[in-house]
Amino acid sequence: MARPKATRILVLHGPNLNLLGTREPAIYGRTSLAELDRQIQRHAEGREARAECRQSNHEGQLVDWIQGAAGEGFHAIVINPGALTHYSLALRDAVSAVSIPVVEVHLSNVHGREEFRRHSVIAAAARGQISGFGPASYRLGIDAALESVPRGRPSRRPR
Ligand code: DQA
Repeated sequence: MARPKATRILVLHGPNLNLLGTREPAIYGRTSLAELDRQIQRHAEGREARAECRQSNHEGQLVDWIQGAAGEGFHAIVINPGALTHYSLALRDAVSAVSIPVVEVHLSNVHGREEFRRHSVIAAAARGQISGFGPASYRLGIDAALESVPRGRPSRRPR
């Protein structure tokens, strides 16, 4: 059966990712968050999907968005939890609690950096993790999310 038309993906950026473009460019590159979001949306459109991108520096806001995603009509979530990756059990529990697929992405290769970045408390609860490809990590994340959406099963509130 075909995937529901225009699969909707919620893309979440965690703390400090609003500073992309100027924050440690040697690690995170010079692409701004606005440009990254445009790339993500264009990529999703090329896959006949729609991506909505949101950023927050606040753990609770990210938890609320994850909890509400299916009710808002999203079929999957792509999330870069930023530093919350490494310690937020609240975010991990939110990922575990939802039935739609969640893909964890990182711009940098977290496994090749400081010891504390090598462990993700989110990854085991997510469908999978993509790390180290810069902005392409998100595009790969969109593709992984689309692969993970059950075909022919509309979300609770299709649009
Ligand atoms: C990051 C990696 C995290 O360790 C860091 O705290 C970030 C960005 C990445 O995209 O590479 O904020 O998630």
